Amino acid sequence: MTTNEFIEQHKEHFLDELFTFLRIPSVSTDSSRKIEVEQAADFLLNQLISLKLSKVERYETQGHPIVYGEHCPFDDQPTVLIYGHYDVQPSDPDHLWDTPPFEPTIKDGKIYARGASDDKGQSFTHVKALQSLIEADGGVPVNIKILVEGEEEIGSPNLVPFIESHKDMLQCDMVLISDTSMFGLDQPSITFGLRGLAYMEVEVVGPNRDLHSGVYGGAVENPLNVLCEIIAQLKDKDGVVQIPGFYDKVEALTLEDRQAMADLPFDEIAYKSSLDVDALHGEKGYNTLERASARPTLDVNGIWGGYQGEGAKTVLPSKANAKISMRLVPNQDPHEIARLFEQQVLSLAPDTVKVRVTEHHGGYASRTDLNFYGLKAAASAFEEVYQNPVLFSMEGGSIPIVADFKRVLGAESILMGFGVTSDAIHSPNESFHVKDFYRGIKTSARFFQLLAEDAKA
Ligand code: BES
Ligand code: MN
Ligand code: MN
Repeated sequence: MTTNEFIEQHKEHFLDELFTFLRIPSVSTDSSRKIEVEQAADFLLNQLISLKLSKVERYETQGHPIVYGEHCPFDDQPTVLIYGHYDVQPSDPDHLWDTPPFEPTIKDGKIYARGASDDKGQSFTHVKALQSLIEADGGVPVNIKILVEGEEEIGSPNLVPFIESHKDMLQCDMVLISDTSMFGLDQPSITFGLRGLAYMEVEVVGPNRDLHSGVYGGAVENPLNVLCEIIAQLKDKDGVVQIPGFYDKVEALTLEDRQAMADLPFDEIAYKSSLDVDALHGEKGYNTLERASARPTLDVNGIWGGYQGEGAKTVLPSKANAKISMRLVPNQDPHEIARLFEQQVLSLAPDTVKVRVTEHHGGYASRTDLNFYGLKAAASAFEEVYQNPVLFSMEGGSIPIVADFKRVLGAESILMGFGVTSDAIHSPNESFHVKDFYRGIKTSARFFQLLAEDAKA
C-alpha cells in the first residue's frame, strides 16, 4: 500500500483521533486547567508510543510537560526536528461561539474547535504522516525528532532553557513547523519571516481610593486619563512609534523584499471586507502587507480601570492599567525594546501619579534563509499535494522558539503552515478545513520522502 492510500483509508479514524485531542481543554495560561494540559501531553505521548519510535519521553518542566520522540536510524539521511504545541489559547468569550469550543463540530467542511488550527490540528498532521509512513511504507525515510510543547501560547518560558540543556539530543539539520497560515485557500505557502514580540503591562496609580468624580474631579489627577494620554503619545498620527531608539536596529526593507511582497496576490478589498472595516490604517510609507508582516508596531491589547458595569457611576478611578504589545522585526532585541518602552512611559508620566511598567513574555523575530536546501523538498511536496505553485511570504505573528532553534541549534526552520487567516485563531469559532488536515498529512509525508530522495541523489 502506498502512503497516500493508507492516508485515504484512515481519514475518518485520523479525524476521530484529532477530535479526541481537541476535546481536551489544554489552556496553558489557565492554572485551573493544569490537569487538562497534562492530559493533552499524555494523549500525544501515547500517540508517539504507538509509533514505536526508538525513544519517547515526557519531560517535566517547571510549567507544562514537553513531549518528545525520536527515531534516527540513518547515517546518510538528514535529521528533521518537528516542532508544535499542544496548548491552546483560552476560549473566551464563550458566548460568541456558535458551537462549544471543546466539542469539535464539522460545518461547511471545517472543524470548529479551539486549537483546531492553532496548533493541534496542524501539528497532528505530522504525527499522522509519521504513522502513515511507518505503517504503509516501511518507515520514515529520514531521521526524525519530534518535540511538542505545552507553553507556546504563554511564550515558551521553559522550552528555551530545555533546548539549551538538551542541545545534543535536539541536534538536527532543520526544524519543520506547521503553525502558520497559507496566503489563501488552496494556496500553498511557506512562511520565511515571523515577527518578534515584546509584551508590556502599565499600571498608573493616582489617589488612594476611587473618588467621587464631582467632588474631586478637576482637582485630582485621573489615572485613566493619564494612561490614555501616555498611550496616545506612543505612536504619532502617521503610525510611527514614538519611543526613542525603537527603530535604531530596524533594517530598511530592500527593494527585492518590497517587490516580492508586491508580487503576492493580496486583495486589499477582500481583506477589508473580511474584517468589516471601511478603511485601513498603519505606518505611512508602507502598504498593508508590509505593515502586517515586515514592519514593527505597537498596539494596546487591553485597557481597564474605573466603572464598567451597567448604567453610569460617577467615579474617578484610583488605578488604570493597560497591556501593550510591540511586534518586532529582525535585530530588535525584545528586552532592549522593553527597557526603551519603560523609559519612555516613565518619562511621559506626570508627578501626580505613580507608574509601574512590567515586561511579560517576548521573543525575537525570525527569518528563514530562502536558499536553504530543505525548502526545496518542502515546496515540491506542497505543490504536488495542492497542485498549485508555492508562495513564500512573511507573517506578522510570532513563534518565539524559532529564533532560539537558530541560535542554539544552528537550525533553519521550515514553516509549512496548513491554516488560513480565516481560521480565526485565538478568536471565537476557530476552525480548520478538514481538507487541509488531510492535505497536511499528505504534504508532510511527501516532504520526508522527497527529502530522502534529495539526500540520496
Ligand atoms: N501560531 C501562532 C503564531 C502565528 C499565527 C504565526 C499565524 C503566523 C501566523 C502562535 O501560536 C501564537 O499565537 N503566537 C503568539 C506569541 C506567543 C508568545 C504568545 C502571537 O503571535 O501572539
Ligand atoms: Mn500556534
Ligand atoms: Mn497561538
